[in-house]
Amino acid sequence: MLSLEEAKARLESAGQSHALQFWAELSAEERDSLLEEISQLEPEELLLHCRAAAAAVSRQSSADGRLDARMEPVPPEFIGSVRKSDKETLQIWGDEGLLQISQDRVAVLLLAGGQGTRLGVSYPKGMYNVGLPSGKTLYQIQAERIQKVQELANLKHGCRCTIVWYIMTSEFTLGPTVKFFKDNGYFGLSPSNVIMFEQRMIPAVDFNGKIIMEKKNKIAMAPDGNGGLYRALVDNNILDDMERRGVEYLHVYCVDNILVKMADPVFIGFCVYKGADCGAKVVDKAYPAEPVGVVCRVDGLYQVIEYSEIQPETAELRGPEGELLFSAGNICNHFFTRGFLKEVVEKFESQLKQHVALKKVPFVDGKGNLVKPTKPNGIKMEKFVFDVFHFSKKFVAFEVLREEEFSPLKNADGAPLDTPTTARRSLLAQHYRWVLAAGGSFLDEQDNPITQKHSVALNEDPPAICEISPFVSYFGEGLEKLLQQKNLNSPFLLDENKAKNLLQTI
Ligand code: UTP
Repeated sequence: MLSLEEAKARLESAGQSHALQFWAELSAEERDSLLEEISQLEPEELLLHCRAAAAAVSRQSSADGRLDARMEPVPPEFIGSVRKSDKETLQIWGDEGLLQISQDRVAVLLLAGGQGTRLGVSYPKGMYNVGLPSGKTLYQIQAERIQKVQELANLKHGCRCTIVWYIMTSEFTLGPTVKFFKDNGYFGLSPSNVIMFEQRMIPAVDFNGKIIMEKKNKIAMAPDGNGGLYRALVDNNILDDMERRGVEYLHVYCVDNILVKMADPVFIGFCVYKGADCGAKVVDKAYPAEPVGVVCRVDGLYQVIEYSEIQPETAELRGPEGELLFSAGNICNHFFTRGFLKEVVEKFESQLKQHVALKKVPFVDGKGNLVKPTKPNGIKMEKFVFDVFHFSKKFVAFEVLREEEFSPLKNADGAPLDTPTTARRSLLAQHYRWVLAAGGSFLDEQDNPITQKHSVALNEDPPAICEISPFVSYFGEGLEKLLQQKNLNSPFLLDENKAKNLLQTI
């Protein structure tokens, strides 16, 4: 840890001496924690970071039309599609994925370092329970899906394979996540195959390039964005760990998508089959102004462009069949080879773009009073995980069905979209569809048949409530033998025990 003199010198060289302005008032303990925090800041980087943040605000003009003329859609030959492919092709990709999984060549990596400010709970988002009949949290659902895919590969290839789960956390999420996993017995996974690591934090800066103090002895710090992944991979020797275990392919995903298909064999298989070093799952954009990033090429290089970065006319461009030209909505589900990641961290990490977010950051004023700003006063600089697409030599996109694979939890209930209610409904609607497709039907509590509905809108509950444990089915497979011609009383929770009972009644 730095001495006071060293800390002073470090801050002074970066124009940040104000961080020590309350020193005389601090207790010994408070002084230690402040020195500890300052010790973590690398002097050169601190200077550059504060300057870049202040400069970025004045440059902030997004949709200035500069990008539009340079954008082109992903060429069709580099897109795979669940919707447009026949069963046999999907089967070939899925088989390839399961083969790779069976050989322990596939791992998953969860991005779980975010602060979840919009959802507004005090614990990590992965610990959120959206109110499913089982009461499972996002972390538990994901842990169970991993085990199910392993089982599918084991059954097909007569092996005992492992999909390692890397979990990137941050100062906010590491402690509670570790505790949650321990308290829950790692949800059945072996702790040696669940590897949690921490991304870096960087200071929030005001519009003059001065770091913001959130307490008299505490700098306002924030994680460096989900693109902080690449530095965190190096800081924590994750690529070495992958190499030691023989992992060649990584499926990276966000914590908040309740429908995420972890280590999806079809996606992995497609990417491997195409020889891709980098891939992204996409969904058809729902409407031109939908605020999702679009995967496209700019000057021949792959990139994700936000709606706010382009003119509305560009977002509305349509192809010959009336489809949106820029329709490949990014859902933060990425495929990377280990070789590609190695190249990124060794050669390109420092070139990753810094995105500027203007935020309301609570701070202590010159008199030491806590102020909660009503309008943005601070700049948080973030890197994005997808900004490495740029460096790919063989990029592919894989189009999947939104209702099957994408329903993120971003906002608290009350917001129109991406809330606990919409997440819960999308999972229940999916499981309802699986039951109907498997030949099952539903009865109400008085044993009266419930009228079937083949399309369920996001803003309504499905006509019958049914949740299927990932231990029973990963993507709807294997349900016919259990459910064909069965009447299920809604609400119905199909867990492993019920599945065994159903098998016995056949
Ligand atoms: P979001 O950008 O939606 O952020 O993250 P968030 O933290 O979940 O929510 P808000 O914006 O504060 O409301 C997308 C994914 O990236 C991860 C999140 O955990 C989520 O899985 N993430 C985000 C990180 O891992 N690190 C970060 O620094 C930021």
